[in-house]
Amino acid sequence: MHQRPDDLIVVLDFGAQYGQLIARRVRECRVYSELLPCDTPLEKVLALRPKGIILSGGQASVYAPDALTYDPRLFEVGIPVLGICYGAQLMAHLLGGKVVPAEKAEYGRTELRVLDDSDLFAGLNPQLICWMSHSDVILEPPPGFKVTARTANAPVAAMSDPQRKLFAVLFHPEVSHTPWGIEIIRNFVYRWCGCRPTWTPRNFVEATVDAIRQRVGRERVLCALSGGVDSATTAALVHRAVGDQLVCIFVNHGFLRKGEAERVVHTFRELLSVNLIYVDASQRFLKRLRGVTDPEEKRKVIGEEFVRVFEEEARQLGRIRFLAQGTLYPDVIESGTRHAARIKTHHNVGGLPADMQFELLEPLRYLFKDEVREVAEELGLPPEIAWRHPFPGPGLAIRILGEVTEERLHLVREADAIVMDEIRRAGLYRQVWQAFAVLLPLRSTGVKGDRRTYGYTVAVRVVTSEDGMTADWARLPDTVLERIANRICSEVPDINRVVYDITSKPPATIEWE
Ligand code: XMP
Repeated sequence: MHQRPDDLIVVLDFGAQYGQLIARRVRECRVYSELLPCDTPLEKVLALRPKGIILSGGQASVYAPDALTYDPRLFEVGIPVLGICYGAQLMAHLLGGKVVPAEKAEYGRTELRVLDDSDLFAGLNPQLICWMSHSDVILEPPPGFKVTARTANAPVAAMSDPQRKLFAVLFHPEVSHTPWGIEIIRNFVYRWCGCRPTWTPRNFVEATVDAIRQRVGRERVLCALSGGVDSATTAALVHRAVGDQLVCIFVNHGFLRKGEAERVVHTFRELLSVNLIYVDASQRFLKRLRGVTDPEEKRKVIGEEFVRVFEEEARQLGRIRFLAQGTLYPDVIESGTRHAARIKTHHNVGGLPADMQFELLEPLRYLFKDEVREVAEELGLPPEIAWRHPFPGPGLAIRILGEVTEERLHLVREADAIVMDEIRRAGLYRQVWQAFAVLLPLRSTGVKGDRRTYGYTVAVRVVTSEDGMTADWARLPDTVLERIANRICSEVPDINRVVYDITSKPPATIEWE
């Protein structure tokens, strides 16, 4: 179903840390890019007819016993290649240059001196700050290459052979610490690969709608909405393609934020006229969670119950051939490569009923999250949905430490709405990764008016992050924190204390459970 745009840049991934980021940056230039593992055979890469190939950073040394390498014929096929960090060293090594351990390894901010600005560095200053992370250096470039930049400790910080369209940089142009790095990528993809900036939300929507139409034909499609941007965008895309052949099921487990369920129903029923089955199962979930305090047990109960409710509804619809899911590119990349240790069982609302046979429709399979948001806007979804922060499948249930009761749910929902409101009013919503309130299972003494209180404590958690894997606590202005604390204590009965969580991830996780 996937329609690859004509202009494609392949990123060969030599280590998972930077590859994704490179592909994202290329796409920020509105050029489509895919990440492939570095053991993808050259023939397979060429079959995709890429306009350019980028070798990512990754490994420690091209001389390590288990060093990853690549078919050297890559440099002879006439497709422009850009090597980054390890990719640069590998290019130098495979083409007859000299790579040696650095006398002084370079990590972090480093001064770069541009010696030649006729190709990759065109339009850039001669003196720049870049982000380095390497222990080997290129001592001599391969025959045919010229040195285009150096640093104090790296005699060849960048090199090029414009005739063969081969380029290499030892630093990381893709990281945000190299702010002008995007210019390097732009120069590469536009000038040397001849790509055009056609990877736009509008083109994506057009191509994908066509592809969905072709694949689905006259069959029906089922889609589970969760309140999040991924499932909403999936549903809106499929709806644009096949209209009433799409049926959406929205199971409200009762742990959504204030007003969220209503917004989803309104958007899909009123705004988009989607065929929507709305199931308010909140009492059912609450009942199942009675007495459950262990976080993993909570997730398990909610996950199982969700599938049960979903199945009950889906069965009444008769035979449906397709199930549309909001799988994103990072999940696709990761499921193929990395096996992270399981810290928490992530439950995604919309999990597949095990014994129901569907063909999967995953129209967002090749998109990054920021691209999904753009597509959501293109499809006319309201900003509250398009820009919604990540939100855990089990929702507020894992933001109430201890047992989930109706009363506690009310408290955390109200406190959360205040946090959200103040973050929005301060114009910080799109700058932070997540912002929320956690209800703690402890009471402490306070005073309201001249009366002693013995109320709950709320922890406010606001974090910045690139991908949720690591995170830092947000340095909010005092005035914003102050307003949040004042409003929670005065507007939410039974809460008399607010604390701010100043732990990063690691060692803490973003959610408290
Ligand atoms: P943690 O708490 O592990 O969370 O640092 C990382 C990111 O994942 C979100 N999260 C979940 N998302 N189902 C989800 O779909 C879950 O069960 C779940 N638990 C955590 C969390 O909000 C953060 O963005």
